Amino acid sequence: MAKSIPAGYDKRLMISAGRASQELGGKIAERLGVQLADAGLKTFADGEVYCRYEDSIRGADLFLIQSLCASEREGLTPNDALMELLLMVHAAKHASAHRIIAVTPWYGYSRQDKKSAPREPISARLVAELLETAGADRLVAMDLHAGQVQGFFSRPVDHMTAMPLLTQYISDRFGHEEELVMIAPDAGRVKLVRSFARRVGAPYALMEKERPAQGVAEIGTVIGDVKGKVAVIVDDIIGTGGTLAAAAQTVLDEGARSVQAVATHGLFAGRAFETLEASPLSGVLVTDTVPLADAAPELITQLTCADVLTDTVRRIFSDDSVSEGFDGENQLF
Ligand code: R5P
Repeated sequence: MAKSIPAGYDKRLMISAGRASQELGGKIAERLGVQLADAGLKTFADGEVYCRYEDSIRGADLFLIQSLCASEREGLTPNDALMELLLMVHAAKHASAHRIIAVTPWYGYSRQDKKSAPREPISARLVAELLETAGADRLVAMDLHAGQVQGFFSRPVDHMTAMPLLTQYISDRFGHEEELVMIAPDAGRVKLVRSFARRVGAPYALMEKERPAQGVAEIGTVIGDVKGKVAVIVDDIIGTGGTLAAAAQTVLDEGARSVQAVATHGLFAGRAFETLEASPLSGVLVTDTVPLADAAPELITQLTCADVLTDTVRRIFSDDSVSEGFDGENQLF
């Protein structure tokens, strides 16, 4: 007769991280009181990536932390990070992990979530399909660019937000200001900024953004009152910094007293550091979903989202509600 699983059966939690998220993965593992499992990652001379877990992962709930971003320190492109995660998932599947949870604090390619012009790919969907094909049972992501990305997966997606972390910082820093205003740099961010402003207890204004060409941001007018106010522009992503630089200038031109910016994902691509330093922004706040390059100017402050991620990992592992950790407010779309 087949034996049933003993009542005291302990599930096994394992955490591993790709090379784009070693530091963040290490912080999560430390907070959970486990060692980061070594995935034996290396790049061959021809550029191909290799993965072999040092220890057995059979039967484990394996959380693989990897933002799909570049890492200057590791010499990785976002595509390298993606391929590495796919191989980590695939190796785990064939090594009989019980559940494989891909944790992509920054889900790369998320901005290409629909066809905006003929003959374009829907890259965010392709990434989802690749992860599922590789063997991921579940995805954990943070502040996705758009809610519909969750629908590209047929498996469960847990969506986290850095909003409580960011609003707390802004409240501590500027909460005493009577004339505080939160700004959405484009129409796509209005819902996010409305929630952000409600948490901070401030009004919000909206900007009109046009993209005449890829990577070029043109900000039109501000809809709302910013005159004499301390303005905080709230975005999800900082890429080239073009959106923020243009938005900050417009807000100042409209009479704001000072302007800061907040975003979850600081990609800081191309000449972003120079662009932001040359802008009128007096501060830029991001989280560590993406590692910050050593050359980052002092203007930029980075907060860790390791506590949020750790809590989420713990809840998924123990089959607890994830949304409860955010008072039910983790779908911000
Ligand atoms: C766009 O919809 C996003 O929310 C960001 O505003 C955009 O990705 C920022 O890009 P960049 O810094 O290159 O202007």
